[in-house]
Amino acid sequence: MQCLSQSSAAPLEGLAVHEIAEPAVPDGWVRVHVRTAALNHHDLWSLRGIGLAADRLPMTLGCDAAGVLDDGREVVVHAVVGDPAAGGGDETLDPRRTLLSELHPGTLATQVVVPERNVVAKPAELSWEEAACLPTAWLTAYRMLTTRSGLTGPGTVLVQGAGGGVASAAIAIAKALGHTVFCTSRDEDKRDRALAVGADLAIATGERLPDKVDVVIETVGAATWEHSLRALRPGGRVVVSGATSGPNPPADLNRVFFLQLSVVGSTMGTRAELVELLELARRTGLRPVVDDVRPLADARTSFERLAEGSAFGKLVLTVA
Ligand SMILES: NC(=O)c1ccc[n+]([C@@H]2O[C@H](COP(=O)([O-])OP(=O)(O)OC[C@H]3O[C@@H](n4cnc5c(N)ncnc54)[C@H](OP(=O)(O)O)[C@@H]3O)[C@@H](O)[C@H]2O)c1
Repeated sequence: MQCLSQSSAAPLEGLAVHEIAEPAVPDGWVRVHVRTAALNHHDLWSLRGIGLAADRLPMTLGCDAAGVLDDGREVVVHAVVGDPAAGGGDETLDPRRTLLSELHPGTLATQVVVPERNVVAKPAELSWEEAACLPTAWLTAYRMLTTRSGLTGPGTVLVQGAGGGVASAAIAIAKALGHTVFCTSRDEDKRDRALAVGADLAIATGERLPDKVDVVIETVGAATWEHSLRALRPGGRVVVSGATSGPNPPADLNRVFFLQLSVVGSTMGTRAELVELLELARRTGLRPVVDDVRPLADARTSFERLAEGSAFGKLVLTVA
């Protein structure tokens, strides 16, 4: 599934499924025969011309996948291509880091070629569909709630936009980590589904909460930012990894300094965090929320669902 052209108004017009030459495998890299892949908003941004330079087209899209190496090992793909040493031990902080499908071809294909360190063992307890969901949205939510949240014990977490891939992951992971979880969604059906995956309270977007929270998990951006800052207790923290509805809401600096709030950015996660997340899933029974599974050849339908925002959880594609 490739991006052939980009348009912010009609992003899906640039999509194409077709045969391409088998990729070469450089020294130190491995070939993954993809079994399952999953979509992320990142794929839509690429089609809109954000984060993917036009001179890199055509580009195979996709960050998430699980599959089998040439030697038969079953693996989950880590989507962050970077050098931990260049980021002080954290490849997400390598100034030259890229995600699959930004510089190197992505995962929505029968094969993807990645550096050896970009595969981790797939736990047998996870299905192929579940495993493919973890490397991007789920890893992002995991890092937000662990490394970046500042929480050292059970706390109260608000997740904005419950239906999103990162948000629905954050609800389930926060619950598995022992937090009290509040969430918002514009849609009543999604609020019900959020309760089913572990939220303690699901309210309409912007509605008043019963209590202030320690941490807000924010991916919606402009549409919920004011509510996120108002929801925090003094000294609370908003962890932000996305801005689907717009990146430039009023900063509300008076509130930030007066209540001594922290605004913390977060992007993807490290290989070590992906291993931790897989172990958390294996140990606790935590499983990704899968909205829909269909063959790669029918990926356009999944992209349409992603673009209209109607999914709750991940849109999975089967490849082999
Ligand atoms: N930094 C990273 O590493 C990273 C990783 C993954 C994703 N992201 C970013 O995070 C964002 C979320 O991505 P995603 O794939 O999880 O989900 P998504 O499809 O972008 O959905 C996010 C949720 O935001 C809510 N929303 C969207 N527009 C809204 C509006 N106008 N008003 C109120 N709520 C609105 C919706 O929730 P309801 O329908 O439930 O209200 C929607 O389900 C994207 O911008 C993506 O690029 C970043």
